[in-house]
Amino acid sequence: MSGMGQFDYIKEIAKFGLENDQERLFSVLNELIEYSKRTKKINFALQLQSLLKDSIRQQQVSGLSKVGSVKHALKEEDREVGEFIIEKVTSDYKFENLICNDNVKSDLGYFIEEHNRIELLRSFELPVANKVLLHGPPGCGKTLASYVIAGELNKMMYVINLGAIVSSKLGETSKNLAKIFRRAASEDSVIFIDEFDSLGKVRDYSQDHGEMKRVVNTILQLFDYLPQSSIVIAATNQKNLLDNALLRRFDLSIQFDLPNLKQIEALIALTLKNGKFSFDNKKTASSLAKSCVGLSYYSIQKTLITAIKRSLFERSDTKTIPLTAKINTVVWEELIESEKRALTKKK
Ligand SMILES: Nc1ncnc2c1ncn2[C@@H]1O[C@H](COP(=O)(O)OP(=O)(O)O)[C@@H](O)[C@H]1O
Ligand SMILES: [Mg+2]
Repeated sequence: MSGMGQFDYIKEIAKFGLENDQERLFSVLNELIEYSKRTKKINFALQLQSLLKDSIRQQQVSGLSKVGSVKHALKEEDREVGEFIIEKVTSDYKFENLICNDNVKSDLGYFIEEHNRIELLRSFELPVANKVLLHGPPGCGKTLASYVIAGELNKMMYVINLGAIVSSKLGETSKNLAKIFRRAASEDSVIFIDEFDSLGKVRDYSQDHGEMKRVVNTILQLFDYLPQSSIVIAATNQKNLLDNALLRRFDLSIQFDLPNLKQIEALIALTLKNGKFSFDNKKTASSLAKSCVGLSYYSIQKTLITAIKRSLFERSDTKTIPLTAKINTVVWEELIESEKRALTKKK
């Protein structure tokens, strides 16, 4: 059916849907997925594809099922897996959204290239790196980098809350992880495991030291059997809590750092990139940028955005919406100082 446009697909979908003609509905949905890929609506295609897969899975397990039957087990599994996946997302983030040093840039860049050119590597029977550990202080772009990877590679991403898995049912951590990996691997997606150090913490509050060993062993096995086109990204603020055997299994370990002055200036430029905002005093602004050394990207961006909002509220003309606005540097300075005070208190 060549030459169909978006609206033709919608019409067909409505028709077959209303007629309850599943076979043709699925086939036109598949055509729409291909069409969306061709017309570069990649995220839409991914979401539709995932929806279709979920629905097929649902049908396999729907209807009444006897406790103990295969169907019943699958149903239970769907419910349990759902609890631990925070989100299943597509990402629009690209490399340019992340500010980082040259090491991170090069490591991430090669990693992305490796997956973009996976066929080349395969044809020479070369192994593909697909397990990455992102570590470093909070607010420096680890989560953001995982969204960049998913966005650059046009893959669905499963965001997993390891803290929840580990703490909720201590005895079932291994089982739950295995289920999630199986699900995500079947879609060639990215599995993003935040708070990876929760694994190390099992030791702290569990009398059962065997549990920690079991979980680590499960992860090692899951890592070993992960298809090359699936990716695992683990993030942690506390790499030192992780078992050495586990650390060794990552193909790549990328360290994220607090920004230096150059990176702070790039972050400010990125935050102001639409050109609608500028500082009321350039000199103060540049010395404030210097005073931000030691803060995280997150803290700096947060104080700047708050300063922008408050500067907007300060304006007396409440009726018209201005095209541009000045950022009150005094307000930003106060916010930076109070952020620093809050952070020293925490320590
Ligand atoms: N390196 C960075 N470049 C650009 N923005 C950043 C960077 N690091 C953090 N941010 C900003 O701070 C937010 C939170 O950062 P996040 O990626 O969650 O940090 P982490 O996972 O390391 O704790 C990001 O969504 C982004 O807006
Ligand atoms: Mg994070």
